[in-house]
Amino acid sequence: MNATLMVPGGLSGLDGNAVSQLVDGLVEQGWFAGERFIDTTLCRSLHDELQRLSANQALSEAGIGRGDQHRLRRDIRGDAIHWLDRESQAQRHYLALMAELQQQINRALYLGLFEFEAHFAEYPPGAFYKRHVDSFQGRANRVISTVLYLNPDWPDDGGGEMAVYAEDDETREVARVRPEAGTFMCFLSDRIPHAVLPTRYPRASIAGWFRRNASLGGRIDPAR
Ligand code: OGA
Ligand code: MN
Repeated sequence: MNATLMVPGGLSGLDGNAVSQLVDGLVEQGWFAGERFIDTTLCRSLHDELQRLSANQALSEAGIGRGDQHRLRRDIRGDAIHWLDRESQAQRHYLALMAELQQQINRALYLGLFEFEAHFAEYPPGAFYKRHVDSFQGRANRVISTVLYLNPDWPDDGGGEMAVYAEDDETREVARVRPEAGTFMCFLSDRIPHAVLPTRYPRASIAGWFRRNASLGGRIDPAR
C-alpha cells in the first residue's frame, strides 16, 4: 500500500484507499497501523528537522500529566519533545495532511474532531514509555491519537516497537508496530492501552492528537 499520492502543486496528499482502511481499523478494532502511509521525502525532511532540533538542544524532556500535575518521570517515559509550531515547510505539509485526515474521519464517523496538536519525539537509546492510555473516559478531549515514525531502515534488533494491548485486557498484547519511516499508527485515545518498548537506537517520531472542541467535550484539560 502506498498511501501518499502526488497532487498538483507538488505536495503529496492522502490516498483515499488507505484512509478507508484507517477508518475501518478504528471502527473494527479501535486502531490502525499502515506502512508507507506518509511519503518518504516528507518523512526525511521531518527527520532532518528533528535531528537539527536535537543538535540545537531545542528538545525538552517529556513528562506526564498536565498543568500542576506535570512531572518528569524517567521511570515511565524517556523521550524528549518539541511541539510542532509550523516553523518549517515540512511541518506545514504534515499538518495539512492531518487536517485532511481530520475532515475524512469526521465525514465517516461524526466524531466532531476539532483540532490537532502534535510534537516531535526522540527516544534516546534505552528509553521507553510504559503502558498507558492517552486520555481518560469522561474527560476525553483527546479523541484519536496518531504516531508517525521517521527512522528509515529501522534495524531488526532495534527494539522500540509500539506494543498495542487489548481494550478489555491490558495485559494481552495484540500487535507490535515497528517504528519504520512512513508507518502511521492511530487509535482511540481513551480505549487502547499501548507502550513504547525500550529502544536500542535513537528513535524519531511525531505523536499527535485529534481533539474535540473543549466546550463540547464537557471538561477542559488545563493548559499543558
Ligand atoms: C505517546 C505514545 C507512542 C510511540 O507519545 O503518548 O504513546 O510509538 N507514543 O511513540
Ligand atoms: Mn501514548
